[in-house]
Amino acid sequence: MTPKTIRWVGDTNGHVELIDQTLLPVECRILSIRSVKTLWEAIRMLRIRGAPAIGIAAAYGLVLGLQDIQDDASREETVKKINESADYLATSRPTAVNLFWALDRMRKTAASLPAADTKQLKERLLVEAEAIRDEDAASCRAIGRHGADLIPAGGGVLTHCNAGGLATAEYGTALALMFAAREQGNTSFRVYADETRPLLQGARLTCWELMQAGIDTTLICDNMAGHLMGRGMIDLVVTGADRIAANGDTANKIGTYSLAVLARAHEIPFYVAAPTSSFDLSIPDGSQIPIEMRQSEEVTHLAGQPTAPPDVQVYNPAFDVTPHEYIAAIVTEKGIITKPNSQSVREHFNSIQAG
Ligand code: MRU
Repeated sequence: MTPKTIRWVGDTNGHVELIDQTLLPVECRILSIRSVKTLWEAIRMLRIRGAPAIGIAAAYGLVLGLQDIQDDASREETVKKINESADYLATSRPTAVNLFWALDRMRKTAASLPAADTKQLKERLLVEAEAIRDEDAASCRAIGRHGADLIPAGGGVLTHCNAGGLATAEYGTALALMFAAREQGNTSFRVYADETRPLLQGARLTCWELMQAGIDTTLICDNMAGHLMGRGMIDLVVTGADRIAANGDTANKIGTYSLAVLARAHEIPFYVAAPTSSFDLSIPDGSQIPIEMRQSEEVTHLAGQPTAPPDVQVYNPAFDVTPHEYIAAIVTEKGIITKPNSQSVREHFNSIQAG
């Protein structure tokens, strides 16, 4: 059985275990992480990656940080430590809003507690981090249930990067639609997975997950998508999201925007699947989403081997923003936002609050 993407082991003095995703699919190695610094490195280096999974990791990180504090420490000292760890983890990656959402939720939990002893506070924060993990697992199942019918029997599905169980607590967001469709008896669709340069999350992770689930999987290079669409091989595109603005503009792995434009040109629906924790309603549109820039070696090298002249200039944004006009619908754990825009997104969140 595949190990969990990320989990906490033991009581408040325990540690985080996660699959080192940089080694997949060659090796499925479990890392034990016992410090905030090591966790920061794991997020930065994409050992753990995908917006919801990064949020879960950050929540566990605050529990790890408190292990430096004695059980009889003052409230002031404890809060200072939580803030230090949270501020540090917040510098690991800038785009996925789930990281900031989870840190904020943990800080609020700590602040809402009466000035109880530090031992109780540590226990409460571990409970909250586990709740973030469990709620994400439940959200992914619900996303699958809501979106499974979007996949037609015998259809061709294109996905980009990895929005599967490895990017979440389990089950995934974009891939949840495929897993759920299959569980509901639709076994005749085929998934085309973009390899997803520069770090190949599609080839290494998505193909690994889909094939384990027995789904008909075909790997393509990123630049082949238009060719397949032109030949009528793709019926829908579905991706995850790292941050969705209040008007539905969606940041996701670099290359997603190009796919959405291609899909529009071929009159193919382009869907996003994401939990509500991936929405950032504080920003009106995608122009304010911070885009992570990563090191040039990711582009100039493949598997440690140079593939470009040594001094070539490189531009390496890790994400792009797809304007909401290109998105046919966003599937969340609460339902489907068709034709996302400021109004439909607002209505979705209003109905959640009302319900
Ligand atoms: O750089 P990564 O691998 O963290 O990028 C991940 C993605 O772009 C995913 O599509 C996104 O986080 C959604 S995961 C459910």
